[in-house]
Amino acid sequence: MNPIYCALDTTDAQAALALARQLTGLVGGLKLGLEFFSANGPTGVRTVAAAGLPLFLDLKFHDIPNTVAGAMRGVVALAPAMTTVHASGGGEMMRAAVQSAGEAAVRAGVRRPDILAVTVLTSTGQAELPAVGVGGTVLDQVKRLAALAQGAGVDGIVCSPHEVEELRRLCGPGIKLVIPGIRPTWAAANDQKRVLGPAEAVAKGADILVIGRPITAAAEPAQAARRILDELEAV
Ligand code: C5P
Repeated sequence: MNPIYCALDTTDAQAALALARQLTGLVGGLKLGLEFFSANGPTGVRTVAAAGLPLFLDLKFHDIPNTVAGAMRGVVALAPAMTTVHASGGGEMMRAAVQSAGEAAVRAGVRRPDILAVTVLTSTGQAELPAVGVGGTVLDQVKRLAALAQGAGVDGIVCSPHEVEELRRLCGPGIKLVIPGIRPTWAAANDQKRVLGPAEAVAKGADILVIGRPITAAAEPAQAARRILDELEAV
């Protein structure tokens, strides 16, 4: 399976579709997040879905369980392969997400999307944790939330390159680890601070690599994706 999911961080649905078409056969799927969804909604998601690639709809739900359950029904109607909730929303919220998505998938006759939990955003530094009432280190909090998420029945966890090895050890082989912050040696780091090469990330236990600008900002996105895929296959 091709582990590359290309992040299409744009508000332009037609540009996203054009890129999706160029990347077909070279990536395992596409990630659409809040920037895209806020501008284009479900219609935009359907536009990009026309390219036929699996979608990771990264909407990071965090609300009361009943509301998240309702939102999940809308997500399932779009038949993504994966979607996200915030683990800090709690065990009951994550269980409601998994259950609601399962029921909606049966009704719609589609595969239930994998529900991934986001632990601590990488933009949250150590200094900020006490301000939001959290003691201990970022890694402590990531591990606490990952264990909570796994107990609530999620399928996977989104984590930084920094945490992948530790979470693979903690969570075992049955959980999907989805990793952004991936940079081939030949690509610019941009604003990513802790980066890891694609092959290194897989070696440390990553299942899915979320890669944006190394592909989308390349002069030839298809060539960049091909180069990353070749590097992965060479290992
Ligand atoms: O362009 P780049 O490869 O940095 O894109 C990474 C994608 O992963 C972006 O969509 C970004 O929002 C997302 N992401 C991240 N770090 C996280 C969580 C998500 O870079 N901790």
